[in-house]
Amino acid sequence: MRASSLTSLVAGAVVGTATGALRSGRVHRGRPVLWAAGALGAAVVANELAGKPALFLRWSFLRMLLGHRRLQTTWQVGDGREDALVAYVTRHARAGDVDDVIRAIDRFCLERSFLINVGEDKGEILDRVVRRIRPAVLLELGTYCGYSALRMVRAMPPDARLHSIEFSPANARIARRILEHAGVGDRVTIVVGTLGDGGPTMERLRTEHGFAAGALDFVFVDHDKDAYLPDLRRILDRQWLHPGSVVVADNVRIPGAPAYRQFMRMHEGRHWRTTEHEAHTEYQSLVKDLVLESEYLG
Ligand SMILES: C[S@@+](CC[C@H](N)C(=O)[O-])C[C@H]1O[C@@H](n2cnc3c(N)ncnc32)[C@H](O)[C@@H]1O
Repeated sequence: MRASSLTSLVAGAVVGTATGALRSGRVHRGRPVLWAAGALGAAVVANELAGKPALFLRWSFLRMLLGHRRLQTTWQVGDGREDALVAYVTRHARAGDVDDVIRAIDRFCLERSFLINVGEDKGEILDRVVRRIRPAVLLELGTYCGYSALRMVRAMPPDARLHSIEFSPANARIARRILEHAGVGDRVTIVVGTLGDGGPTMERLRTEHGFAAGALDFVFVDHDKDAYLPDLRRILDRQWLHPGSVVVADNVRIPGAPAYRQFMRMHEGRHWRTTEHEAHTEYQSLVKDLVLESEYLG
């Protein structure tokens, strides 16, 4: 039995036992809550034993929800799963094989620990856009563990270059190791920083990475949802896009980027032409999300 299954079994057993003990004792007022906790514990255990078919009952998903505050500040779940991914990929994916590394990451997310990657369903939308427009210079906002970067590298022309901006130095280190293992470390530049840090990151992009007017063919926006629109405006202010550049934004419905969506709607047909793609949120098939593909018209 794997460690995560064992953990969930223990968690389920603890919840169930505590609930039973309390129920048989003097605590009566919280009964409905205890029954619900007991039922949840039992459902988590059953789901783990059945091979984790329901994402929302997986211990790794519930653990992530419990750590959401930490996730919002450090952008790691807090149980070491992002580092565990590196070990898993190194052990289970063939070195130098991008397809196999992507497959291993998806397997890790389905069988071990849920990660906030773009995932398979929305990842295919990303692949299709990159293949269609054949960008030479790509920018990603939000590298995390490098999953979407791998997908873009696989889809982009061989001489194209991806620049990926990541707020967390720890995540950047993890992504670099995974990209190196896949044999594509030399095609992606990961820059630690944020476009909203008051200047240094944008200045580095200009001076060290050659960002200039009209330089960007493609942007993938997948970082802090509140920063989608401000960061797009920063890119527009610097005139880094050209007519025909395409911006793809993940998670526009969940967790949601309403200001960004509203901006695209306001400028539809004048400065932007947007297609809204319905897709599922990562690694499950119940909850739907929206991916926006927006062509800049100038
Ligand atoms: C949803 S994850 C990205 C997932 C990744 N694109 C993938 O599909 O594999 C969001 C990432 O954005 C990073 N992040 C958060 N705010 C940021 C910002 N303002 N600028 C750059 N990165 C940011 C977080 O540290 C986290 O690693």
